[in-house]
Amino acid sequence: MIVGAQWGDEGKGKVTDLLAERSDLVIRFQGGNNAGHTIVRDDEEYRFHLIPSGILYPGLACAIGNGVVIDPRVLLEEIEGLKRRDIDVSGLHVSANAHVIMPYRVLLDQAGETRLGKLRIGTTRRGIGPCYEDKAARLGIRVQDLLDEKILRKKIMAALEPKRPALRPHAKDPAIDLHTMTEEYVTYGHRLEPHISDTALLCWETLRAGRNVLFEGAQGTLLDIDHGTYPFVTSSNPVAGAACVGAGVGPKQIDEVYGVAKAYATRVGEGPFPTELNDETGHHMLERGHEYGTTTGRKRRCGWLDLVALRYAARVNGLTGLVITKLDVLSGLDRLRVCTSYRHAEGAVFDDFPYHQSILHNSEAVYEELPGFTEDIGECRTPSDLPAAALDYVEFIAKAIGVPVTLIGTGPGRDQVIWMNESGTSRAAA
Ligand code: GDP
Ligand code: IMO
Ligand code: MG
Repeated sequence: MIVGAQWGDEGKGKVTDLLAERSDLVIRFQGGNNAGHTIVRDDEEYRFHLIPSGILYPGLACAIGNGVVIDPRVLLEEIEGLKRRDIDVSGLHVSANAHVIMPYRVLLDQAGETRLGKLRIGTTRRGIGPCYEDKAARLGIRVQDLLDEKILRKKIMAALEPKRPALRPHAKDPAIDLHTMTEEYVTYGHRLEPHISDTALLCWETLRAGRNVLFEGAQGTLLDIDHGTYPFVTSSNPVAGAACVGAGVGPKQIDEVYGVAKAYATRVGEGPFPTELNDETGHHMLERGHEYGTTTGRKRRCGWLDLVALRYAARVNGLTGLVITKLDVLSGLDRLRVCTSYRHAEGAVFDDFPYHQSILHNSEAVYEELPGFTEDIGECRTPSDLPAAALDYVEFIAKAIGVPVTLIGTGPGRDQVIWMNESGTSRAAA
């Protein structure tokens, strides 16, 4: 299983693509098209919002699980886009139980953010939150509903009813007219029909045959609705435990959980970010790391690696391995800093991630400084190719987190990785 160990955009897409080579099924289990997962192959870039990042392997089974929320327009565009690039999408399966993002949910997401004003979350405005709200309220529209016009119409009517006051400014918008919507979404249902299936059963059958299933997380641990920096979070659970629910497998089926983290930290949208940098170093990370959102194009906020948050992510996900991406981006910085604890305005020091929102908002990062490196590491392929300071930095992280580093990213390309040795990683972990 691959999960984000920070605030999203850690490089999960690239890692999924790499591990998909040894998998028989790749499945997404939560989130929706708020996600943007990038894969670079032979200088060609692919960006996925809904389709699992294993789709580039011809014929590989890729599933969108029941826990995902699906905007069918986005999914169909993604399918068409891949076909135009001659990518085989016959292996794509879409859960009949996944919930559908309807146009009124997108409008409500936008209205919600506008209403919150300064208190806004900075959502991707893709209707993710309102879709999960309706799911919990049992007013959701599921993929299977798109296959039956009568049922769909009834369900849309029921879902719209309690939203009338909030949707009043859009009353004349044809996009949310009941008849137009029903017709439009039935059409999407027909177009998706060849892909619609029981993805939980597919998982079960794959596992029962002794084959490998790769779970592809979206977002990151600190954006988790239960374990993240609530309310500045997404509306699903990106943590490892959620994969069982969102794909329909039992917890004992999971063998390995890899947490993906950048060698520094980024965040898109609002919310606390104790190691945020608004200086030249932050600018270095932004520019060298091309830290602009895959989905919304927004600038990502950048900062030093936060080991308090990463230790927390290792704990709540039960990580068995760490993937450190974008180590190359730190090249050229004289000194590297890592946050080892938080200091509250009143003096208390926290080694563990504080559960209280006010503490987090009023704390500053306490740093340890390590030597930097200047060499370009884009061509490094083994740990010993790395400059000593870069390897020491990785080992410092492994030791501080207590989880072995499995893989290091040294550039966006598929081959720009360093696999660490079998025993875990590194001298430090040994
Ligand atoms: P995801 O949402 O976790 O899949 O991550 P995104 O795709 O949104 O953002 C990660 C970005 O970093 C993408 O543009 C990747 O191509 C790029 N990337 C991934 N790994 C590395 C790496 O090791 N070095 C560099 N320089 N870029 C990387
Ligand atoms: P991937 O899978 C980074 C952030 C948004 C906002 C908050 C809530 O590419 O890592 P939402 O639209 O989900 O209600 O927005 O979550 N967010 C992400 N940030 N990467 C993502 O996905 C994100 N998906 C949502 O910016 O702060
Ligand atoms: Mg992303």
